[in-house]
Amino acid sequence: MNTESPVQAPPAGARSDWTIDQDWPSYSAEEHRVWLTLYQRQTALLPGRACEPYLRGLDALDLHGRGIPDLGALNDRLGGLTGWQVVAVPGLVPDEVFFRHLADRRFPAGRFIRDPGHLDYLEEPDIFHDVFGHVPMLTDPVFADYLQAYGRGGLRAQGLGRLHNLARLYWYTVEFGLLATPEGLRIYGAGIVSSRTESAFALEDPSPNRIGFGLERVMRTPYRIDDFQQVYFVLPSLQRLLDDTLQDFGPVYRRLEGLADIPIEAITPEDRVFNRGTQAHTAGEDLRLTRG
Ligand code: PHE
Ligand code: FE
Repeated sequence: MNTESPVQAPPAGARSDWTIDQDWPSYSAEEHRVWLTLYQRQTALLPGRACEPYLRGLDALDLHGRGIPDLGALNDRLGGLTGWQVVAVPGLVPDEVFFRHLADRRFPAGRFIRDPGHLDYLEEPDIFHDVFGHVPMLTDPVFADYLQAYGRGGLRAQGLGRLHNLARLYWYTVEFGLLATPEGLRIYGAGIVSSRTESAFALEDPSPNRIGFGLERVMRTPYRIDDFQQVYFVLPSLQRLLDDTLQDFGPVYRRLEGLADIPIEAITPEDRVFNRGTQAHTAGEDLRLTRG
């Protein structure tokens, strides 16, 4: 999500809401192979790491088998479960367009798939990240309602000039969220489940902090877009996320005006700590940079 995009006209060939036809028959055999490679890699890693709602959703959507999913068939299943639909877009869309789709229970997914030579590198979300990463959670009724509410909240935050705070909530939940279960921590964030390296790092590496979710805590914490996260926030349940975000954010935003950001690697006395990270990953990276 780009928090600074001005209102733009859709690119040539796109509709006014930025959607395009998926045109499934025009994917090449090589593009389908990229999907299958990524799919097989991730599904080998995710049992015991991804949360149950995600794994159940992945199963219910039947995303395997024939390569890149046909969004028409996917939408028949998804629509029957929670009423959500996936729509194809050329790439990143302006915030306002993105929020409006979410508020109408439509999830915009990049139509393209990454290059076979760069399976782990993405400049923009592609169909694997968007569909494999995000759509299984949309089969969960609570998460489905949360993301729709987030869309409405995005339009409102934009009007109030608090999008930078709300974007952090998206980042640390929808993209990089963890869930506490009786069996241990599990992943529900799309940025993690769709990443080969981060799906292990987020749960098992000693480097990042893992701390209990708090709405204002998250909204005060910056994030990084260029590397693994330095902090992950852990929810006790998806219902808790929905309950916490159904409150009116007007007073929340007003409180945040008087509060400083919390440094990305900090642990505060109020935090419930699941893991006090060594931050070795980030330190090692600084070393590489200064030596470079
Ligand atoms: N309750 C929020 C508001 O009043 C809207 C929202 C819901 C935002 C869910 C994010 C997620 O603005
Ligand atoms: Fe995403």
